[in-house]
Amino acid sequence: MKVLVINGSPKGEKSNTLHLTKAFLAGTGAQDVETLHVSRLNIDSCRGCFACWNKTPGKCVISDDMEMVLSQILAADLIVWSFPLYYFSIPGKLKTLIDRQLPLALPFMVENTDGSGSGSHPSRYDMSGKRYVLISTCGFYSAEKNYDAVERMFDHICGKDNYETIFCGQGELFRVPQLRNRTDAYLADVQQAGAEFMTGGIRPETRERLKTLLFPKEVFEEMADASWGVEKSAGEHRAPVDETLAFTRQMAALYRKESFDGKARVLEMHYTDRDKTYQILMERDGYKMLDDPKDFQQYTTRIETPFTVWLAISEGKTTGPQAMMEQKYRVDGDFSLMLKWDDFFGYAAPAAEKKPATAKTASDSKSNMLIFLLPWILFWTVTSFNEQWGVMTSIAFCALIPLLWLKFKSTIYERLTIACISGLSLSLLLGADQTILWPLSYLLFGLLWFVSGFQKIPLSAYYSMNDYNGEKALQNPLFMKTNRILSLGWGVLYLVISVWSFLLMRANAAGVALILNNVATILMGIFTVWYQKWYPAKVARGR
Ligand SMILES: Cc1cc2nc3c(=O)[nH]c(=O)nc-3n(C[C@H](O)[C@H](O)[C@H](O)COP(=O)(O)O)c2cc1C
Repeated sequence: MKVLVINGSPKGEKSNTLHLTKAFLAGTGAQDVETLHVSRLNIDSCRGCFACWNKTPGKCVISDDMEMVLSQILAADLIVWSFPLYYFSIPGKLKTLIDRQLPLALPFMVENTDGSGSGSHPSRYDMSGKRYVLISTCGFYSAEKNYDAVERMFDHICGKDNYETIFCGQGELFRVPQLRNRTDAYLADVQQAGAEFMTGGIRPETRERLKTLLFPKEVFEEMADASWGVEKSAGEHRAPVDETLAFTRQMAALYRKESFDGKARVLEMHYTDRDKTYQILMERDGYKMLDDPKDFQQYTTRIETPFTVWLAISEGKTTGPQAMMEQKYRVDGDFSLMLKWDDFFGYAAPAAEKKPATAKTASDSKSNMLIFLLPWILFWTVTSFNEQWGVMTSIAFCALIPLLWLKFKSTIYERLTIACISGLSLSLLLGADQTILWPLSYLLFGLLWFVSGFQKIPLSAYYSMNDYNGEKALQNPLFMKTNRILSLGWGVLYLVISVWSFLLMRANAAGVALILNNVATILMGIFTVWYQKWYPAKVARGR
């Protein structure tokens, strides 16, 4: 399949629309693609002489790049018209190119059969096998109703219902690296549309997703206004606003009031290299941005960062947690805001949220720490009352675990637990010495934790990631370090417990061992809850 892309944006390669066009082409899998940047072509205006109809049929009197364009149009199987919306129509030079297609038509008048007008001219060439796609972005928040004129024109050029369209509002956002999370999700839908176009046509669900706004109207309009770097209230005559202010306004505009958790927050941004400070009040009904220190309130969270670092984070050149680990910025006050940053300021793609339930895969499900812990707890508690019951309940639970994995994500440590508990239970049934078996169970449990501390994913991370953005948390060095320390801590504790249990049991003080073990475990549990909040906050404070 030969594809011709006619890029009508005066910005050439820098066109916003071209992002969509490239995604669409990637979806089609087309290899033979020719792209014509109209802005680079030498195309004169049609002179209206009709020489291409009477004197030199099929040939224009003007000798310029249009001759090449026409031959490319004739050779192509798929023609993609890629252009920005200009004054609810197409850019002028693209219109010039369209006018100069006259040599492709015959002069005779024929009736329109599709009801799209008062008549048309038949094509000089067989164009019946060709397919057409219009891809365009526009500046307003939505494409709806903006393309009426464009569609009426292409009804005549390509034939009504004889072309596909992908029209997208908020087009300027495609060039903003900070918003790639959202725009990439949209481009994935465009790519999907490209694939479907090749195999029976774009599906209605995909078409619906392509109509979804990139950002809600008010969020987009606030961001767009802030991006111009001039005060809206004072018009464009006032001096341009500071780059840090425009940037912070755009960031504030992303605040999602749906993520309000009952706690009003005052986020203070201090850009150390520019000596600029702003506050964003994050409230139930939305946000307020303060740029005058006179109005400032007591902050709940303050971020001190060089502007360049924050910019690099927002452009995805580094991640927030990575930069924090490297102590490139510091956070004072309530750290919970940082942990929920993506909820507060990250717009997820609606397409991703709308995944049908049936598409749920094992990797979507969450792990559950009880599956790992319960076999051990059952073994330790029930066997201490009744050996046989203890062994039976532990083995029965282990046998149940594969069923639980249908609902919960399994981990290597659950598999190892099944092996350990089954081995220990069988040994107990075969009459192994309790004073050895119990300390051995603590030793094995401790080893699981301890050794995991040196693995890629420490044991506790498998479970605590559920509360921190799922698998994304595994990319967060601070999260991983916190979990590594905690897993090693639990490992050491249970290795020590195994030693003192062995000694106490040998000294006939099993009861003391039991109490000591439980108290130590509860204390470590309390420490864990505290430490997993305290440690990241300490790193963030940079002190
Ligand atoms: C001269 C001009 C006219 C425009 N007219 C409209 C318009 O009528 N409606 C609209 O929504 N956006 C309009 N825009 C915004 C562009 O359509 C928008 O910025 C688009 O994403 C640019 O795409 P491109 O980067 O592919 O050229 C206009 C932009 C310019 C420069």
